[in-house]
Amino acid sequence: MVAGMPFGRKEGGRTREENSLEELQTILQAESRCRAKEFHGLYVEMEKRAKGLQATLQAGDLPKAGIAYGRILEVCASCHGKFRD
Ligand code: HEC
Repeated sequence: MVAGMPFGRKEGGRTREENSLEELQTILQAESRCRAKEFHGLYVEMEKRAKGLQATLQAGDLPKAGIAYGRILEVCASCHGKFRD
């Protein structure tokens, strides 16, 4: 720690510590909103690909269904890589 660091000094009627805590909370909130958006994006992508699989199955096109299934698994994996742990 830097000698003479002004801990407890008042800034606008509040301590430095109170101010940085508030700043940190703001950053965390922004971060979680951003993650939620990314999560939702993957979820929507998943749904789109699932509909694609459904269409190939309804058409009875098994080779295409296999490919569509693989594309779904890609989304599973990319979401787990980012969010599961
Ligand atoms: C939009 C993100 C997302 C997508 C897409 C997704 N998952 Fe997950 N999955 C998660 C998260 C987050 C967890 C961890 C949940 C937890 O631990 O509470 C999880 C957990 C799991 C688990 C473990 C469950 C457990 O109780 O441990 C399995 C199995 C799983 N997912 C399978 C799949 C499969 C198969 C797909 C694709 C068909 C898929 N997931 C797509 C986010 C996703």
